[in-house]
Amino acid sequence: VPLQAFNTFHIVAKAHTLVRVADESDVQAVLAHPELGVAPKFVLGGGSNVVITGDVKPVVLKVEVPGRRLVGETARAFIVEAGGGEGWHDFVAWTLGQGWSGLENMALIPGTVGAAPVQNVGAYGVELQDRFDSLDAIDLQTGQVFTLNAAQCAFGYRDSVFKHGGTMQTLGAPTLGLKDRALILRVRFALPKVWKPVLGYADIEKKMAEHHCTQPTAQQIFDWVCEIRRAKLPDPAVIGNAGSFFKNPTVTPEQCADIIARDPKVVHYHLDNGSVKLAAGWLIDSCGWKGKSIGQAGVYERQALVLVNRGPGVNGEGATGGEVMTLAKAIQTSVYERFGILLEPEPVVV
Ligand code: EPU
Repeated sequence: VPLQAFNTFHIVAKAHTLVRVADESDVQAVLAHPELGVAPKFVLGGGSNVVITGDVKPVVLKVEVPGRRLVGETARAFIVEAGGGEGWHDFVAWTLGQGWSGLENMALIPGTVGAAPVQNVGAYGVELQDRFDSLDAIDLQTGQVFTLNAAQCAFGYRDSVFKHGGTMQTLGAPTLGLKDRALILRVRFALPKVWKPVLGYADIEKKMAEHHCTQPTAQQIFDWVCEIRRAKLPDPAVIGNAGSFFKNPTVTPEQCADIIARDPKVVHYHLDNGSVKLAAGWLIDSCGWKGKSIGQAGVYERQALVLVNRGPGVNGEGATGGEVMTLAKAIQTSVYERFGILLEPEPVVV
């Protein structure tokens, strides 16, 4: 099965076996199959956060679970559920159309609802975990459906229990990571009844000033975030990419002071826990990578944190996963040599 249309990098690769999953019974049927049941599995959502470096041997489970509905409410929030296969952006737009605010800062993030908890997607000051209620997932070994709350998902910055194998340390207690062990069927969000805009990001403040607006509506924020993202991030339908390729690294105040002493312009943010987050895009940019390429893999001209496929997007051969990873390693090396910081890739490498 060709995978080019199923990954936003538009990397050419094949899956030996691909199964479309519309509900839990489709997974249970795979598990009951004499060969597929025991084979390793790989869960694929919108393919917007993966780098495929060769043909995929594990059974690809492509999540297509549909549905979006109000499932309940609390004193403070509407509880809204979406199937894992729903497109993230369409779901965000739909909630606003229904009159439920809270997801607007996360407009236009590529990918599916089911993939969003895996990396705890976030943008412009709001992360999935801030609006999360619970999720249903299916165990890929036993076929049992289970529910996790936010604490059990162990959300962190672009991180969750679904990104770790083996045991991981959460809330002081060792927990079993769920990487490659679970498929997210449905996600429930708690959308606040009393809504307050999340502002404070420079790009959004700029829009407010331009529009002479001090009290934006959720719809306005949604529209602005779409404009901001369209201006600096490549549309994966046109230019293959997987969003930010590296996480923004966290350093100690001492490390940051060292870097400021040499590079006074380094973009940095102080976090509540005392550490400092650096803009990886700035670090890469200042090493001169913007617009550079290795083979058909390149660094996007308008945002150095985004690696792109310069090859013909649809049906043509473009960058290989190997080229993308070679470019990523070259960037890591030069940022490490200049700043002493090892950038951590954000997408899942398959
Ligand atoms: N910058 C440069 N040169 C560049 C890129 C960035 O100097 O080539 C500077 C910018 O001028 C800015 C700072 O770095 O001062 C930060 O850039 P930006 O506001 O574009 O945000 P980011 O830190 O690069 C993060 C997320 C994005 C998210 C935005 C907005 C990560 C890894 N990335 O990007 O998320 O949309 O903030 O909240 O945390 C994603 O995860 O795929 C993603 C796109």
